[in-house]
Amino acid sequence: MQRTLIIDALGAQEPCPRITLCGWIRTRRDARDFSFVEINDGSCLTNMQCIVDAGTPAHGALGDCGTGAAIAVAGELVASPGKGQQWEVRAAEITVFGLADPETFPLQKKRHSDEFLRTIAHLRPRTNKYGAAFRIRSEAGAAIHEFFRGRRFAWVHTPVLTGADCEGAGEMFHVTSLKPGVTNTDFFDRPCHLTVSGQLEAEALALGLGRVYTFGPTFRAENSNTPRHAAEFWMVEPEMAFADLEDLMELGESLTRHVAEHVLARCEADLKLFDSFVDKGLLERLKNIAATPFARISYTEAIDILQKSGRAFTFPAVFGTDLQTEHERHLAEEHCKKPVIVYDYPKEIKAFYMRQNDDGKTVAAMDILVPRIGELVGGSQREERLSVLESRIRELGQRAEDYWWYLDLRRFGSVPHAGFGLGFERLLMLLTGITNIRDVIPFPRTPGTLEF
Ligand code: 4AD
Ligand code: MG
Repeated sequence: MQRTLIIDALGAQEPCPRITLCGWIRTRRDARDFSFVEINDGSCLTNMQCIVDAGTPAHGALGDCGTGAAIAVAGELVASPGKGQQWEVRAAEITVFGLADPETFPLQKKRHSDEFLRTIAHLRPRTNKYGAAFRIRSEAGAAIHEFFRGRRFAWVHTPVLTGADCEGAGEMFHVTSLKPGVTNTDFFDRPCHLTVSGQLEAEALALGLGRVYTFGPTFRAENSNTPRHAAEFWMVEPEMAFADLEDLMELGESLTRHVAEHVLARCEADLKLFDSFVDKGLLERLKNIAATPFARISYTEAIDILQKSGRAFTFPAVFGTDLQTEHERHLAEEHCKKPVIVYDYPKEIKAFYMRQNDDGKTVAAMDILVPRIGELVGGSQREERLSVLESRIRELGQRAEDYWWYLDLRRFGSVPHAGFGLGFERLLMLLTGITNIRDVIPFPRTPGTLEF
């Protein structure tokens, strides 16, 4: 089918005697002599207005099609005399692909709540808001690849099925090929789960390819029903050989700012929708993120700031405890009023692989905290000294043998290296102002939700 996308038709330089557009009817208004039909094909936020003269074969073909029906309109692209749009289509021919019964089609032309739209996640891509969110998602993903390609990082693919528990968190989905009740030997003959992070494998790849990143689905069975946690989310995990914490902070900041800049340039109309209806001030905030260096404070300073803030937090901020979301948001939103990188965390609250600092108390870790969300990025320089790493594993009550291949990376040609994980959905929350993670991923997986 010779089909023009609405985004291209709207960008036309001159009229066109014959084009064909396909899409779904968003609104239809009938006058005595003609019908106005606005269609949207998902290529952009704006609808194309089509004029269908009464008494024509096209009008006959349109029949009583209304909101939600899928049609093709062939006709002339002409300058629109009306306000609000530059071009419109004078329909010469209409094909109806699929009707949508107005009695039962759930997306009528009124504003629906996010909660309701989650119950029809299969239809919500046809709304302005979710169309925009998923177009921004696509552009942000492209921007991430563009950023890493520009810095000569190789995109690598780490396994989804794994026997390693990277974060030592134990909040994993277990995978089996056995039917319930059957007690045969399982597929891998050892426990298998869905990956919580591709980091350990990414480290192996970085220590051969130099600079790598993963970008793929990640799974956590943490039963935390929060607006910022999903059981299945996408993580971006760069890993760099011959790099330290300073290099890592620069990478995380540059990546975040690059993506903000990219979507500002490429998703203007979609971002304006969010700026107007979801989060007033979003555009301003994104421009600031793109233009202004992030703040940097050590964990020790962060605790000090929180203690002196005079704020009554639900959890008091004490050295040696993990920062809670309320703390992270206070630091980014109120104290720094922009993204802030917190570095050098106490080793007790961080993972075994983080490089120990000379003070004997902290590790070379860093988190990027952003306004409204809290933690966006978590990472560290890795412990590259074999003996230090082995003792840390033992200290934590684990067996060094279980990490034999990971320790090999320190046995053979070990180098200082560093990496982080960036939660892609959290980045999208930052970019769109959407406050619930369930609304930035098309089919969210959260406790009890697996309908689609
Ligand atoms: O801080 P995390 O747990 O770090 C790691 O997994 C490291 N192994 C990454 C690395 O160094 N390569 O997770 C990284 C980021 C978090 O900062 C957060 O943005 C996101 O992943 N994240 C989640 N996003 C949505 N839902 C969840 N349940 C998430 N858990 C982590
Ligand atoms: Mg973290």
